[in-house]
Amino acid sequence: MLEAVLLVGGRGTRLRPLTNNIPKPMLPVAGVPFTEHQIARARAAGVTRVVLSTSYRAEVFSEYFGDGADFGVEMVYAPEESPLGTGGAIRNVTRFLRSGPDDPVLVFNGDVLSGLDIAGLVAHWRRAGAAVALYLTRVPDPRAFGLVPTDADGNVTAFLEKPTSPAEIVTDQINAGCYVFRRSVIDRIPPGRVVSVERETFPALLADGANVIGVVDDAYWLDLGTPAAFVEGSRDIVTGRIPSPALPGEVGRALLLPGADVSVDAVVAGGSVIGRDAHVDAYATVDGSVILDGARVGVGATITASVVGAGAVVGHGTRVSGAVIGDGAVLGAENEFLDGVRVWPGAQIADCTIRHSSDQS
Ligand code: GDD
Ligand code: MG
Repeated sequence: MLEAVLLVGGRGTRLRPLTNNIPKPMLPVAGVPFTEHQIARARAAGVTRVVLSTSYRAEVFSEYFGDGADFGVEMVYAPEESPLGTGGAIRNVTRFLRSGPDDPVLVFNGDVLSGLDIAGLVAHWRRAGAAVALYLTRVPDPRAFGLVPTDADGNVTAFLEKPTSPAEIVTDQINAGCYVFRRSVIDRIPPGRVVSVERETFPALLADGANVIGVVDDAYWLDLGTPAAFVEGSRDIVTGRIPSPALPGEVGRALLLPGADVSVDAVVAGGSVIGRDAHVDAYATVDGSVILDGARVGVGATITASVVGAGAVVGHGTRVSGAVIGDGAVLGAENEFLDGVRVWPGAQIADCTIRHSSDQS
């Protein structure tokens, strides 16, 4: 038996309005909730039991996954009354764990898409006899992440979450959001209060001289925290750049879900997903985008690197690029929605060009 904890309680504010009602990990990525891809990959690496650490909209997870039988793992739920932070959330699952004190327990951030060799990370942890093994990746700009410098032997020397001063940018290695904990280490996190694993637990373990190792893996890695990243992750699964056993169809230029109706005169490409009962009308182009269930892309409209919410309507000839259109919004004809624009659910907008740009006042 190998247990995994998925941290899925975050509010997902950077993905609003998509996360107004759906928790970030349940947003459909390449046709299924993102969490389903994570579970499928974990299962392929030998995980048999998954504890979902939930907070925001906890019921959405249990309604979809149930006891996990349909997904090939046993699933249990550890809801929080109020968010306990990442470390508090990990501590809160102990009453659901079956692992012994010296067994490995995998912990995943619920919003990271990666090609990590999960079984390899567990093997590293075991060989090192570590308290915790952290999966690290390298990024060009590490400032939005947890910086994790290591020595020549792979021992973690510091943990600097979201550094604010240039002096703290000591490495391009970041916490990639997956850990192997020795179970007894989880039991020692203080219970019943908010704890950040990044700001409190890891620094405390290092101060205590615990054996914390970092394993750099340069496989595909993406934090799906922003609309642009969310679309990118979906596209990369559809095109097979990052394979997922949960992809509901073949790898290819696009994924059409059951009931999707695409005109023969439309172009759908770049790893786009067309949702159930969604329509793409003639001469429309959908490139690298996610069109959710029941939405309609009108004649000659162009959708690029965007999300069109469930039941939303894009008028004919309208251009949507790098934008998020909320569920049920109705966009008029020959408009433009560009560069980071977010249209709230149900909004009705006509006769405009809207561009979100920091250098426009
Ligand atoms: N259950 C529960 N309770 N889950 C939570 C809570 C909570 O109070 N707070 C956050 N989470 C979950 C989120 O749902 C997410 O899956 C994960 O914990 C990490 O939270 P994020 O809010 O996405 O953090 P981040 O992306 O800013 O930073 C984290 O991830 C980076 C890699 O993507 C940190 O772990 C960084 O160190 C790391 O580099
Ligand atoms: Mg994140």
